[in-house]
Amino acid sequence: MKPVVSPLAAVDSAAPWTPDSWRGRPCRQQPPWPDAEALERALAELRTLPPLVTSWEIEALRQQLADAAAGRRFLLHGGDCCEQFDECTSSAIAAKLKILLQMSLVLVHGGRRPVIRVGRFAGQYAKPRSSETETRHGVTLPSYRGDNVNRSGFTPEERRPDPWRLIEGHARSAMTLNFIRALVDGGFADLHHPENWDLDFVKHSPLGADYQRMVEQLGESLRFMETLVGAQVLGTNRVDFFSSHEGLILDYEAALTRTVPHREGFYDLSTHFPWIGYRTLDLDGAHVEFFRGIANPVGLKIGPGLEPQAVVALLQRLDPNRQPGKIALIARFGAHQVAHELPRIIDAVKSSGWTPTWVCDPMHGNTETVIPSSGAGAGVPIKTRKFAHILAELEQSFEIHRAKGVPLGGVHIELTGEDVTECTGGARGLSDEQLARAYRSRVDPRLNYEQALEMAMLIARRMRD
Ligand code: PEP
Ligand code: CO
Repeated sequence: MKPVVSPLAAVDSAAPWTPDSWRGRPCRQQPPWPDAEALERALAELRTLPPLVTSWEIEALRQQLADAAAGRRFLLHGGDCCEQFDECTSSAIAAKLKILLQMSLVLVHGGRRPVIRVGRFAGQYAKPRSSETETRHGVTLPSYRGDNVNRSGFTPEERRPDPWRLIEGHARSAMTLNFIRALVDGGFADLHHPENWDLDFVKHSPLGADYQRMVEQLGESLRFMETLVGAQVLGTNRVDFFSSHEGLILDYEAALTRTVPHREGFYDLSTHFPWIGYRTLDLDGAHVEFFRGIANPVGLKIGPGLEPQAVVALLQRLDPNRQPGKIALIARFGAHQVAHELPRIIDAVKSSGWTPTWVCDPMHGNTETVIPSSGAGAGVPIKTRKFAHILAELEQSFEIHRAKGVPLGGVHIELTGEDVTECTGGARGLSDEQLARAYRSRVDPRLNYEQALEMAMLIARRMRD
């Protein structure tokens, strides 16, 4: 699981790269497609379909991430652990945009810097799994690997990987992006009208009043600026969103990796910002090989057990030209390990001369299983995260970055715009016993809309300090 520094490193950075050069490498977490011909038919179809994003959007994001690395912007990277095909609906998409917009408004207010909004959406349909199979009541079936691969129901038919789902995933990503772009162009994200983004939360939550006050202050500042300059402040009538997903299924990513007119190199046009997951971050593996050749910015999930020199070797391999904004290191150590692990890695990276965008993912190192003692889910183990642990990792990360003089450039959070009960704690003190009420994630537990906004307020306070 851990990347290792091998003598291959120096040789490989200079070796020729093609969108297929990963094929000879060890490739973890790929679906066990049962029918090679069906896979080939799906990939041939994908290669003919239009891309989902454009190279100029990707270039714009890379420049903005370079600003975040330098502390001039802040990245808000958030969304579902795993999108679902049946949640490609207007209300679910609008709710995702609203919560990201609200959080970003709070962060702008607190941090006094522009916020880059990147959703874990429009393609987050494939999941790495720690086990190939799942057993229930003595029956063993292949694990659910995300809607791009199979279905979550527990029957052999539903768990059978079907490569045509990749085409369906591409289509649903396109529908999601199409609706997001239309909403943004139509003024949904106009900073003059943040009232469009209200979720019910604002009316019912104890934090609603704080949020309303913040919105009013921002509106006043905007009007003041516009009176002063006598025109609309550039860019305030719309905000941008970028898409992002774990670049897990390399056949899919390679089929959407293309050259474009008037630019050099290859772009992965399935998303603006793919990331390499913790389970596939293998220096000599297929994922690192694939992602070293594309022009997109790339995220790397770094976590417990990773040696500082291994991180430097990964930067050397993935970003030999030290391009600003190219690599984001998304740290997910957990509240109990971050203080021990992160400073050593920051030191090694700093002295190596790379300046990646540092991002804190306070979710993935803080997952735990609890067994509620009463309520609808009594006695049944359930995966959750504690709000206090998430906050503790964030607080420590801010402190570590401050002490090291290296900006924390953003946060990566699993959240939803809906009223789910998947993480405990927060202003309403959700308990283990209440988790079963509205637990909807098929994979990792997300902050619900109220917890997400509360988290944004706490981050904003930290940024202001
Ligand atoms: C995820 O982001 O959903 C994920 C699986 O993260 P990690 O690779 O950090 O475990
Ligand atoms: Co997750």
